[in-house]
Amino acid sequence: MAIKIPATLIPGDGIGPEIVDAALAAFDALGTPFEWERQDAGLAGVKSAGDPLPPAALDSIRRTRLALKGPLETPSGGGYRSSNVRLREEFQLYANLRPARTIIPGGRFDKIDLIVVRENLEGLYIGHELYIPIGNDPRGVAMATGVNTRHGSLRLLEFAFDHAVKVGRKKVAIVHKANIMKALTGLFLETGLELYERKYKGKFELETVIIDACAMKLVLNPWQFDMLVTTNLFGDILSDLVAGLVGGLGMAPGANIGADAAIFEAVHGSAPDIAGKGIANPTALLLAAGMMLDHCKLTEEAARLRKAIDDTLNIDKVRTGDLGGTANTAAFTKALVSRIQNG
Ligand code: NAI
Repeated sequence: MAIKIPATLIPGDGIGPEIVDAALAAFDALGTPFEWERQDAGLAGVKSAGDPLPPAALDSIRRTRLALKGPLETPSGGGYRSSNVRLREEFQLYANLRPARTIIPGGRFDKIDLIVVRENLEGLYIGHELYIPIGNDPRGVAMATGVNTRHGSLRLLEFAFDHAVKVGRKKVAIVHKANIMKALTGLFLETGLELYERKYKGKFELETVIIDACAMKLVLNPWQFDMLVTTNLFGDILSDLVAGLVGGLGMAPGANIGADAAIFEAVHGSAPDIAGKGIANPTALLLAAGMMLDHCKLTEEAARLRKAIDDTLNIDKVRTGDLGGTANTAAFTKALVSRIQNG
């Protein structure tokens, strides 16, 4: 009997369960060996267990170290912290991997194939913020502290450089703002340059680019880049910019990878405006499912899934409404499953 791979499945909120169903249908058609532990989180977690990140969900991920996750809504009020941020911290998911590849040709930017690697735990995202009152204005001054560590920078850069070698990228750009934030992003840049000289020289070309110039270059000529690696806030902004180059968040998958687990998800949110209507586009989550297969070294299945997605969208021209098509989620999933089964 084939070995089973235990994995946590969090359908999440809004359109989450609808797109997760599409991913499960694809996994079934591919004959993948996952043994799913289904868990609630987000609003679904509050409803079933009074917590947007119930202990059962955390325990499951602690056991399986592997999860596919739908979007999670953070309940407003009640002082809840974002479940996504909590997951990153809990499992030290320090690397956010966001590949962007043109799937439907003919958009504003064609033939894009770029990877953004973002540091996920440090920088200006740590949330150390405060106001200082001036006169009778309680918010006269706002302050935020950013923290980058050599250890945190090094493990992220090592992950990015290893990934570049693994997937055969020719060029990596370290994106920074060390001309102004000399300590905060200078440390990241310095660590990257030193690591490259010590361990990766000759394996790919390394360049450095300042964040503002990088944003302009990405819009003028995105093909000049192959992989971008950067700190938390810059990575957050650039990965959405790059998703825009390939048709928006509906086509953007992401992986949060760390020392203790790997969690795969679509980049978009729970789309409450279309939830329950059965019209959501499952492509981003399906691409994340492909990344999960690669992570588990099921590379043949991952390639079959990606080809089936391409063929369904481009040969069969079965597309959901957000892509200008008329298919609902079920019709798209049916066409995809048929492509997986029949080639
Ligand atoms: P959103 O990404 O959910 O929606 C933005 C727009 O894109 C909406 O018009 C939506 O209908 C459309 N859209 C998104 N995904 C789609 C898909 N697969 N197919 C077709 N159309 C799609 O962003 P929004 O409205 O800002 O956030 C909604 C909720 O999701 C919030 O509570 C937010 O906190 C949460 N969220 C969760 C994320 C996660 O768990 N990783 C990431 C982003 C947001």
